[in-house]
Amino acid sequence: MKAPVRVAVTGAAGQIGYALLFRIASGEMLGKDQPVILQMLELPMEKAQAALKGVMMELEDCAFPLLAGMVGTDDPEVAFKDADYALLVGARPRGPGMERKDLLLENAKIFTAQGAALNKVASRNVKVLVVGNPANTNAYIAMKSAPDLPAKNFTAMLRLDHNRALSQLANKAGVAVADIEKLVVWGNHSPTMYPDYRFATVNGQSLKDKINDADWNANTFIPQVGKRGAAIIEARGLSSAASAANAAIDHMHDWALGTDGKWVTMGVPSDGSYGIPEGVMYGVPVTCANGEYTRIEGLPVDEFSRAAMDKTLAELEEERAGVAHLL
Ligand code: NAD
Ligand code: LMR
Repeated sequence: MKAPVRVAVTGAAGQIGYALLFRIASGEMLGKDQPVILQMLELPMEKAQAALKGVMMELEDCAFPLLAGMVGTDDPEVAFKDADYALLVGARPRGPGMERKDLLLENAKIFTAQGAALNKVASRNVKVLVVGNPANTNAYIAMKSAPDLPAKNFTAMLRLDHNRALSQLANKAGVAVADIEKLVVWGNHSPTMYPDYRFATVNGQSLKDKINDADWNANTFIPQVGKRGAAIIEARGLSSAASAANAAIDHMHDWALGTDGKWVTMGVPSDGSYGIPEGVMYGVPVTCANGEYTRIEGLPVDEFSRAAMDKTLAELEEERAGVAHLL
């Protein structure tokens, strides 16, 4: 058996936390041979701490063989102490009629404080995934607030969008999700994101040739993926939770254990490629191996794609300007 690793989860008593922690403890994120110590952060309020205590009691009652320890706390420096993985979920979710960027200023403060705490106490190799919205800009804030940690350790969750796009494409083309490869979701986790299947294949054949419907792409597929979060809120009265937790598991699993050459989408600080200014937290295609992600470089960008990629970039730059005073 491997030595245990420390996994910090913030917002542990929230909706996503409840759908996430049990799967991490059962080995779905880091493998069935990897013991974990869960370090869970919640707000200091009595209600939040009581709910966290209840979640920890349930974790205990599962008797997970891989759960090597648990910490529940309201102090980020305790939650992030020596953390090898940090899933930053805790933040206010949006309600009906709101955009994710409406949460910007309220949630931004959380990520300056948590970035600073990670900087101070986490493992120098900590892998950070930001789920709390607006996820890309919050990840950018956490990264900027942790100057002693490598910028590449900070990522934002675009995987839910990637998975949503996969299912829509599989339905449209009448193929299995598992057979689709080389999908990309560029940019921001917001309605401006650009799901792009120009390079996608099904069993090695071009998916675009199979679908061949520019009108569906522009007027159905792209807006439907972009607005799926709002559609879930409309239907459930609450934002997505199980699918968000599932995407977080997929993101961390693949980052830690590799993608076997398959492309996945991660929000990562730009290296300047594809005309995205360095440092902007932008969804790009990557492969993962040996605990590191590598961008897929050199993909052609046509006129339609350039406009879509610039639109989502402009929104990210606007969000970044909106929080500049906090950094
Ligand atoms: P929720 O309200 O059910 O849970 C959030 C939890 O975080 C609460 O228990 C709250 O007490 C806690 N919290 C708030 N501030 C905290 C802080 N500073 N430190 C520690 N804990 C804190 O919300 P949820 O449905 O679990 O969603 C959480 C976040 O994830 C929201 O911002 C939501 O918009 C976002 N989200 C992102 C994606 C994505 O794809 N990136 C998908 C779904 C939801
Ligand atoms: C989602 O995409 O489901 C989440 O970001 C929640 C939201 O606000 O849409």
